Amino acid sequence: MTRPFHLSDYNKKVLDHYENPRNVGRVADADAEAMAGNPDGDRMRLTLRIRQGVIEAAKFQTFGCVAAIASSSMVTELLRGRTLDDALRLTNRDVVEALGGLPDVKLECSVIAEKAIRAALADYRKR
Ligand code: FES
Repeated sequence: MTRPFHLSDYNKKVLDHYENPRNVGRVADADAEAMAGNPDGDRMRLTLRIRQGVIEAAKFQTFGCVAAIASSSMVTELLRGRTLDDALRLTNRDVVEALGGLPDVKLECSVIAEKAIRAALADYRKR
């Protein structure tokens, strides 16, 4: 029998990003906006302000588990100040690493952040 999952299975940094998420909300007059989802129904909205090929601001709204919210919060921090090419190179592994790791069973949850970057940048290119 597998043991139930506990909040204490997350490290302090993950819990901090869950309890005090950075950059929650929507960027006003966003230059890019997208929704991303994980197969279990969790959802993340990412909005970006982009000036001269650089991401000046990133904000998120996520309906999801602790790992999805912490990953969303962290990715907004990682995106700020990056060029679009650099942002496209970010993966969920970078997000997990910046968070100091996630429990194995929660690694998949971080993929939502990577999907949101790609979707938001695709939206930017369409405009
Ligand atoms: S359980 Fe759905 S994203 Fe974590």
